[in-house]
Amino acid sequence: MTYKNLIVESKDRIGRISVNRPEKLNALNRETLGELSAAFEDFATSSEVGAIILTGSGGKAFIAGADISELARLTPVEGRDYARYGQRLFSRIETLGKPVLAAVNGYALGGGCEIALACTLRFAAATARFGQPEVNLGIIPGYGGTQRLARLVGRGKAQELILTGDMIDAAEAQRIGLVNQVCDPAELLARTESVAGAILTKGPLAVRYALEAVARGLEMPLLDGLDYEATLFSVLCASEDMKEGTQAFLEKRKARFQGR
Ligand code: COA
Repeated sequence: MTYKNLIVESKDRIGRISVNRPEKLNALNRETLGELSAAFEDFATSSEVGAIILTGSGGKAFIAGADISELARLTPVEGRDYARYGQRLFSRIETLGKPVLAAVNGYALGGGCEIALACTLRFAAATARFGQPEVNLGIIPGYGGTQRLARLVGRGKAQELILTGDMIDAAEAQRIGLVNQVCDPAELLARTESVAGAILTKGPLAVRYALEAVARGLEMPLLDGLDYEATLFSVLCASEDMKEGTQAFLEKRKARFQGR
């Protein structure tokens, strides 16, 4: 499939999606959201790809938010559909079954910050900037920002970012837990690829179930979450990957996982 607003490629079992509207700081218009949906779905179902990196083209922005020229024209009914459409895509990214790593190479504002929040891990160039500036436009985050930001960095910091609309730099984003690692801009992609590559050496079923246990567990009371964890643990005990992983350790060799 060819894309107008994305560059999609894959190498060494890592899929890479770059939002490619640098002249608009990679702002997400409807067309780009549709293409992202197709590209993520393609990688989700591909047996050739085990991890995905999301980044932005051009040196300046990861994604500078939803496209404000489209937002400006929304009726209330369209606004609800618009928010729900983005929310569905971001929730799909969160539950893809494969790790999605955001390589935040510049501005991650509004929907750009929200899509990063839906990713499994966030790596940022030291020059990256994060923010939820929707209040400046008289609206609130509509792609999950009010929910995921509070869950990730806590209610106080989330409220501060959402109510002031202020941008924070990568160091501050890391300090509050919004970002996993900060790197030199020139090393951002290599660093993100190296972590994706490291995850790909692990048991694929274990990676999938770990993601599911954390994501579903966060929505449950603790006792139910623990029960769910034990259930997934027991399913893995029946997997060939578990036999291979434990046997490889005992035989002092590297495991060769098959994902079954
Ligand atoms: N939607 C649509 N277009 C956007 C955009 C967005 N979210 N963010 C940037 N652009 C466009 C600008 O309109 C400009 O287009 P033009 O050259 O046709 O006028 C181009 O991208 C470059 O942006 P510009 O504002 O000139 O760059 P800057 O370096 O002066 O400022 C930002 C960078 C990120 C501070 C500024 O672009 C900005 O505040 N963007 C909006 C961020 C936002 O509110 N996002 C949340 C939306 S809900």
